[in-house]
Amino acid sequence: MIHGPTRLEGSVPTATAKNAVLPILAACLLTEEPCIIRDVPLLEDVRTMAKLLRSLGVAVELRKHTMRISAAGNIERTATYDIVRKMRASYYVLGPLLGRFGDARVSLPGGCAIGPRPVDLHLKGIAALGAEVNLEHGYIHATGRPLRGGTMLLEGASGPSVGATANTMMAAVLADGETVIEAAACEPEVVDLAGFLTAMGAKIEGHGTPVVRIRGVKRLHGADYRPIPDRIEAGTLAVAAAITRGNLEITGCEPEHMVSVVDRLRQSGATVEAGKRRLVVSAERRPAPVTLATAPYPGFPTDLQAQFTALLSFGHGTSVVTENVFEARFLHALELNRMGAKIDINGRTAVIQGMEYLSGAQVMASDLRASAALVLAGIAARGETEVQRIYHLDRGYESLEQKLGALGAKIERVSY
Ligand code: EPU
Repeated sequence: MIHGPTRLEGSVPTATAKNAVLPILAACLLTEEPCIIRDVPLLEDVRTMAKLLRSLGVAVELRKHTMRISAAGNIERTATYDIVRKMRASYYVLGPLLGRFGDARVSLPGGCAIGPRPVDLHLKGIAALGAEVNLEHGYIHATGRPLRGGTMLLEGASGPSVGATANTMMAAVLADGETVIEAAACEPEVVDLAGFLTAMGAKIEGHGTPVVRIRGVKRLHGADYRPIPDRIEAGTLAVAAAITRGNLEITGCEPEHMVSVVDRLRQSGATVEAGKRRLVVSAERRPAPVTLATAPYPGFPTDLQAQFTALLSFGHGTSVVTENVFEARFLHALELNRMGAKIDINGRTAVIQGMEYLSGAQVMASDLRASAALVLAGIAARGETEVQRIYHLDRGYESLEQKLGALGAKIERVSY
């Protein structure tokens, strides 16, 4: 329940990146030695990944924000439908299980609220390493031992794939010989995974560019690692400052990972000061119209499209937002319209006619970033907003209502 409008002000820390932590946790399967991962965010998706690893026989201990993971002893090779259907990132165990044991069975994920999310590129990647891939009873069964290095182009209709690049890297680090991934995803989370694999003894070059080269090694060892800050959480907080015409200092973030986001915020008229591991964002007026199109990194992230759509709903003029990564990622727009926004969706494009104000309403979250967008809109809108299905929010934001509440938002989690 949110009561608006309020202006947010103060200083807020950034959590560690969910989308860096999830593949890194899966990568711990690549060694029998223990790994320590620090500053792990306490999110539903992280709990699901821990549950998946435990179901495989991995020892996972969490103390405060530090996770100790040991994949010694007997490790199962099957990720069941029950877990995969809850979280697509469960797919990240495919590469490491195959790489280390030559055998992995992972349930095919089902539908997804943000549109079709095929796994063909993941399968293309491991097939290029010599794995035999079969679909049986709803499961992908991949086998191959030893895997051998190969060259592959991992480009889909929407460009590179974060997940397929990460999975293929994890399968290739223990393969015989050299692997070359062309059209690799350049996202900071992929670079961070390469950083972790390198800390485990892997030989990787070119991460962060479209051509990644991996020289297989015989074995990997344990590592102690702190993943990168969450650029999407930091971006969500930056939008919170702009949408409430407030003033927020966002600490512990990495502005270098947020260049396109800072650029669009400035275009909207917000003042953004980017320092070392910190951003200060403030706004005084309704946002100016902005044209933006999501794209693979370093382009504008799809994971901030919903939050920007909410911001531009309060704009002074007409904005155009094009979603190029996930074709059906606009369900939040329909909910924002219930709050008085004027958003027309035409295929992959949203035309947003800015309104002076939105009014609170009962709305329904459809996915993680959509729920963040509705919460931000609720803080800036007049009156009461009730955001339902906030379990989506808990998948990727740790206690967001507490963070926003400490900055002045009138927001409360209500259990029914
Ligand atoms: N694609 C294919 N074939 C594949 C894999 C992907 O065609 O085999 C397509 C997808 O359908 C999409 C595009 O390629 O059109 C990019 O998808 P990608 O594989 O890069 O996405 P992902 O790895 O499934 C990760 C994040 C998403 C984020 C995207 C894009 C994780 C756990 N998830 O997903 O995060 O939107 O990259 O940056 O890292 C979120 O955090 O809310 C979230 C959805």
